[in-house]
Amino acid sequence: MDPVGELRLLLASGTSLVTVETPEESRLLTLARAAAGSTPIWMWSAATGLRRDGREPVYGTAVPDQMLDNVEALSGPFVVVLCDPAPVLADPTGVRRLKELGQRTTPGQSLLLVGSHLTVPTELDGVAHAWRLPLPDTAELLALVERVEARMVQRGTVSKLDDASRVELARALRGLTLLDAEREVMALAAADGVLEPADVVVARDDKAELLNQDGILEVVADEGRRLADLGGLELFKEWMGARLRRPLGTAPEPVRGVLLTGVPGCGKSAVAHAVAEEWAVPLVLLDPGRVYRKYVGESETRFEAALTTVEAMAPAVLWIDEIEKGFATGGEDGGVTDRVLGTFLRWLQDRTAPVFVVATANDVTRLPPELTRKGRFDELFFVDLPDAAARAAILAGELRRRGADGTVGPLDGLVAASEGFSGAEIAASVAAATYRGPLTAATITEELARSVPLATSRPAEIATLRAWARDHARAA
Ligand SMILES: Nc1ncnc2c1ncn2[C@@H]1O[C@H](COP(=O)(O)OP(=O)(O)OP(=O)(O)O)[C@@H](O)[C@H]1O
Ligand SMILES: [Mg+2]
Repeated sequence: MDPVGELRLLLASGTSLVTVETPEESRLLTLARAAAGSTPIWMWSAATGLRRDGREPVYGTAVPDQMLDNVEALSGPFVVVLCDPAPVLADPTGVRRLKELGQRTTPGQSLLLVGSHLTVPTELDGVAHAWRLPLPDTAELLALVERVEARMVQRGTVSKLDDASRVELARALRGLTLLDAEREVMALAAADGVLEPADVVVARDDKAELLNQDGILEVVADEGRRLADLGGLELFKEWMGARLRRPLGTAPEPVRGVLLTGVPGCGKSAVAHAVAEEWAVPLVLLDPGRVYRKYVGESETRFEAALTTVEAMAPAVLWIDEIEKGFATGGEDGGVTDRVLGTFLRWLQDRTAPVFVVATANDVTRLPPELTRKGRFDELFFVDLPDAAARAAILAGELRRRGADGTVGPLDGLVAASEGFSGAEIAASVAAATYRGPLTAATITEELARSVPLATSRPAEIATLRAWARDHARAA
């Protein structure tokens, strides 16, 4: 449902005390006006006092007590929006009066508590209902783009946008708050006095930077590699290929995601890139290690906000690298990890936005069993060391990329020499060989011989991984 509909339903259901934690105060006011319909809206802030929407403030009501006197005296339906209600919430009597207002059963009387950081006292547990303002959708952003475009054109900006590029631009802004999106469009216009289709790319880059400010999410630049460019992984390619046939979000059965584990350097990250590339959707990297903050509740809030942002960018591929870093069980952090994990499990199962999750794990033994249980991910794949055919494909790919596929000759010798090497190790050997002059089978073989592959240096670890995979995962 759209946010106006959701809010309207909430107000109509008789919920009289609603908290909304959001930095988008003015957007919330716009939505509240739309949701309230003909119900009178009042607004309060400690700076302005209480005023009916569009009128002058009532004298003396900047003081919380005076405001509450006035609100209690209001009869009939109303929506009162308290902007930054901290001064009211800091006073126990004020909290009690809010609670009593919230427990009133007069239909159509609602209070909205709005702020970017709300600390709701426990006294209001069970009375106050927390509502989350979703990030603007493409339609809302498109309306914004048109509005800002018109305004900038009046001020002398030249617009070369057409209908298609306006939609593109709105899509590129997905994931931003309305305020950030507005600033972005204005900046695009101000930069060179022209709004043009090429600005869409700039907007995407700027957004990537904005979203990365808190360090949890990062929009990853594509590598341009498709699934077919990866060597081996035939079973995964077949499984994935069946799901890639339709655009993400349009299949009758939702596709949710995969968990990839396996030998390091065998293409797990490359798969995440390739899947996003195949679907032509953004690849958003979530670093679960950065979710954790020392203040109580902050980790959960940050994590939920990150998930909301990803959903707003849908269709998208969410890549969670080394998932065990964020969700390993058994930590002594007072249950924070458990709560974050709980949030994540719920989201994995219940989300409706088309977000395909590619999670990778190096140490699967540290993962909580809830996460690897069926239903969270569509499938668990084990990525093993490449076999001869896969090594041949990887070698061929590395040579092709360097324009040397015609000059090295038959690959049989190299395939044999790279037995036990990971894809990353093969790629590194080819790269090293380029420093020794033109690529030849001999120089690559020498480089391969110089390095000790993982299969030789850490056979026990690889054996453990394989043993786990036999019981838990499908071979990729
Ligand atoms: N199957 C493969 N096909 C083609 N190239 C590969 C393959 N596996 C690895 N490579 C090469 O090795 C590089 C590193 O692989 P990648 O980062 O995907 O491994 P990984 O499994 O994510 O490793 P890690 O566990 O260390 O994160 C790739 O960028 C690619 O060049
Ligand atoms: Mg990786």
